[in-house]
Amino acid sequence: MSEFKVAVIPGDGIGPEITDGAVAVMKAAAAKFKLPLTYDSAPAAAAAVDQGLPPLPDHTLKLCQQSHAILCGPFGDPRWDNAPPAERPERAKLILRKTFDLFANLRPVKPVPALLDASPLRRELIEGVDFLIIRELVGGLYFAEPRGYGEDAKGRFGINTLRYHAWEVERIGKIAFEMARLRRRKVMSADKANALESMQLWRETMQKLHDQHFADIELKHIFVDNCAMQIVANPRQFDVIVAENMFGDILSDLGAELTGSLGMLPSASLGTGVPLFEPVHGSAPDIAGKGKANPLAMILTAGMMFTYGARRPDIGKAVDDAVEAALKKGYRTADIARKLPGEKLVSTKEMAEAVLASL
Ligand code: IPM
Ligand code: MN
Repeated sequence: MSEFKVAVIPGDGIGPEITDGAVAVMKAAAAKFKLPLTYDSAPAAAAAVDQGLPPLPDHTLKLCQQSHAILCGPFGDPRWDNAPPAERPERAKLILRKTFDLFANLRPVKPVPALLDASPLRRELIEGVDFLIIRELVGGLYFAEPRGYGEDAKGRFGINTLRYHAWEVERIGKIAFEMARLRRRKVMSADKANALESMQLWRETMQKLHDQHFADIELKHIFVDNCAMQIVANPRQFDVIVAENMFGDILSDLGAELTGSLGMLPSASLGTGVPLFEPVHGSAPDIAGKGKANPLAMILTAGMMFTYGARRPDIGKAVDDAVEAALKKGYRTADIARKLPGEKLVSTKEMAEAVLASL
């Protein structure tokens, strides 16, 4: 690849401040490894609406289409809290996922050793945890039709549909098994086959795919409610978890919190089009603009972009290592500070600078 082109969408709330840090780290990492990298920024979501533009402006979409990867901040703004889903600015993210057919969302849960004491779980439970949630991202309850509002004899209603075709389950299952092959060869498929036909089909399809092509991988099926319980009770047992869109959304917030803060987890969305990289957390409007936000999830997201977008895991690892080094030196944003000796409470910008210095 002669030149790696990145479309940067800072997003809403804390998005711009954490993106500043992530972009600085991205540039420094590319320079260090002599990867020619260019980038351009464009608005989306509430940031676009505030400029009189639609949530996903044409020029932003065009920039994404002409790039090799999208580095995307969090979307969402409380001013639209009561608006229907179709009018909310964060819809732009769902449109991006759908437009580029980004069906596989990779959300790693791997606590940084320096932060073990920031986890709400006891050290003996959290130590050594390392799993990967693979969330189906363009189907299921978020996208299947019919959806919307209606009215019948019993009054107004809202409707969404949980439908999966076997091919959709097969393609996300394939990613899960392939990722497991690079790890500890265990896949846990979280479903709700005891209550839902769509999930019965999910289970059968996963099993068939396994038996035909991935018999070397251990496959277990687990009901998603039990999975949530197990993530808290015994998180070390997991290697790869694969789940339906909304189940994966919920499990990944749970997983993220195990690491001590939602502000620590990156994600990669892969599929047939331009891959998108975004932190798992939201736009945290309550602390926006105050320099308090933790930029590490966004910085680690840039790391995932190198690994999966530029196929340069060496650069991705350098970013991860720099984050870990900054934490080892004691730097903490408020969300991960525990008032322990040796900790230095820092702002968003200072944290990003500490990572840069370690790089
Ligand atoms: C996420 C977010 C989004 C989702 C929202 C902002 C639409 O929660 O990326 O996990 O539900 O997918
Ligand atoms: Mn979510």
